[in-house]
Amino acid sequence: MQGRDGTLKDFAIPPQVTPADVERLLAVLARGARRIERVELSSGAVWIKRYGRKRALVGMRAQNALARLFRQPFLRASPRLAPSAMVGREIRRIALFRERGLPVPHVLYRSAGAVVLSDAGSTVSMRLAALRTSDPVAHEDLLVACAADLGALHGKGLCHGRPHPRDFFLENGRIGFMDFEEEPEAVMPLAMAQARDLWLLFLQLTQRALEGDATLDRAFAAWETAAPAAARRELGALVGFLGKFLSLTRLIGRMHMGSDLRRFLAATRYLSRVCEIPRPAGASKAGKDD
Ligand SMILES: Nc1ncnc2c1ncn2[C@@H]1O[C@H](COP(=O)(O)OP(=O)(O)O)[C@@H](O)[C@H]1O
Ligand SMILES: [Mg+2]
Repeated sequence: MQGRDGTLKDFAIPPQVTPADVERLLAVLARGARRIERVELSSGAVWIKRYGRKRALVGMRAQNALARLFRQPFLRASPRLAPSAMVGREIRRIALFRERGLPVPHVLYRSAGAVVLSDAGSTVSMRLAALRTSDPVAHEDLLVACAADLGALHGKGLCHGRPHPRDFFLENGRIGFMDFEEEPEAVMPLAMAQARDLWLLFLQLTQRALEGDATLDRAFAAWETAAPAAARRELGALVGFLGKFLSLTRLIGRMHMGSDLRRFLAATRYLSRVCEIPRPAGASKAGKDD
């Protein structure tokens, strides 16, 4: 929790949490069933997050092998840590983001393999789903806000690692962030990690924008205004590299256009255009034939 003096008082159980709440929380923690669990307490909801059961080692090794093969550090996986170190990483990153003035959940409790976080409310994903039909203009504005606030975060010398609307929330009109399991800047330069962040966000934005390029252009401009020039330069290099795969991916897509492929094509094609990367022959219709 954040103390009055602005210092971090993590792990303090808030005073409104009753003994019955503590009992309930401990019971859920001990049961250790699901990785992420929402628990209703008398004072509101909290979230339990457990570590160390998700990422297959083999997938991570394959990712790092690809990074070596292509000599592209941005492909590297974040270092794999033991569960207690994963807890440490998440807490350290939450504290860092809070220090730089960004909305993040409060850490209420930590154990060797789990954290308990305050409820951040509806995620941006949930809000987008509701706005899509009820208020398309607000929907597009929220997509732009995601890019603008990601740029602001980059401008503060940070990177998220896996930006996705399901890990964003709104606090007083600003985008808040959660899910800090990745730490790409530990295995690549910060500007490269920030460029990777932007590309990852655009995998989502290109799929979600109702107004297509009109919204994407606004989103990109908002990111670019706030983000460091070095991140923008790295983005050119990253998209230049990924752009080489457009025609190949399109070919694969003729046989099977899965959602990952569709996102890759749409985001890479859009960002190649913005970054003015010359397109390989045959890539002009990439991603349009699904
Ligand atoms: N503190 C929180 N407040 C609100 N929702 C949360 C909170 N923590 C997790 N969630 C929900 O659970 C989902 C998964 O949690 P997350 O930390 O992103 O773990 P994962 O590594 O599985 O993505 C989030 O996308 C969000 O919907
Ligand atoms: Mg997540």
